Amino acid sequence: MLDTGQTAPLTLEVAERVRESRNVVSFRFKVVEGDLAPFTAGQYLPIRLGLPERPISTYTISSDPRDRSGYRISVKLEPEGKGGSRHLHEAAEVGARFLAERPRGKFVLAEDDRPVLLLTGGIGVTPALAMLAELARHPDRPTWFVHACQNAQEHSFADEVAALAGAAPHVSTHVAYAEGCEEDLAEGRCQSIGLLDRETLRMLLPQDAYRVYLCGPDGFMTAMRAVLVSLGVPDSEIQQESFGGALAEAPRQEPTGRPAAASDGGGPVVRFARSDLEFTWDGSSGTLLEFAEAQGLSPNFECRDGICGTCACRKLSGEVAYAEEPLDSPEDGHVLLCCSVPKGDVTLDI
Ligand code: FES
Repeated sequence: MLDTGQTAPLTLEVAERVRESRNVVSFRFKVVEGDLAPFTAGQYLPIRLGLPERPISTYTISSDPRDRSGYRISVKLEPEGKGGSRHLHEAAEVGARFLAERPRGKFVLAEDDRPVLLLTGGIGVTPALAMLAELARHPDRPTWFVHACQNAQEHSFADEVAALAGAAPHVSTHVAYAEGCEEDLAEGRCQSIGLLDRETLRMLLPQDAYRVYLCGPDGFMTAMRAVLVSLGVPDSEIQQESFGGALAEAPRQEPTGRPAAASDGGGPVVRFARSDLEFTWDGSSGTLLEFAEAQGLSPNFECRDGICGTCACRKLSGEVAYAEEPLDSPEDGHVLLCCSVPKGDVTLDI
């Protein structure tokens, strides 16, 4: 087993439950054992729910990073209770306790003064809430908060967003209801009806030099990314959050390897034994998972961040190094592809 050097988990206690919309509940936790670890807007909290199929579930922190009273997560009840959502909705009453790891995640605001577009769909709003709280304190960063949801019954955090934007003249907001009505428009609950489209975004966004933070269902992100690029936003300026499912921008190629043979020289050789392919690691991929995907292979994954264990793969020979230590070590003889790189020639059971 690896020595992961992880610090002890935090013990959290539910201090408050708030229904935000028809299917979203916020849970405010206070830390009752351990120190409240700081977080950056956009990061998530890994919580050990202890579910047999998924020991750790991750939830984006939706509270203001400057709020030192604890953490707030906001959880949508998913069909079939996916991702522990039913467990939380049913079992996380005030006073319930959970173990959690320290916040982590790379979907965070870049430190510059570029205008920002927070573009979210459905429960994808949660990281944008923490980001909006942060950006509202920076009048030098014009910010657009654009949110799409189904209707008024599924519109979470309307008052909170209105309060933040109301106190920050540099923040503009727009809400689109897929199934809205004239009354929603008249009452100001939303500003457009129907799916967010190119024309709406073109009218909303006066320029194209944004840092874009895109978060929502995969189909929403794929569509919005294409619209933004067509409006002149460089693809490299669009950062998106995806827990599970294929990343919209993940490059895919047809397999170009060859039956296992000698290396081309240079970097370590990565052999995918089951596929009878081998490639030279050239450093262009951040992890073995990205490397395998770039060769057209499709290993399983969910979090892509060393948390869920879904990408665990049997290692037949060689060694890997972890760029960031996983929360839980994989079982002996296995590696987590999403957070490792080869230390030398390595053979994987893929
Ligand atoms: S995909 Fe979750 S640990 Fe690798």
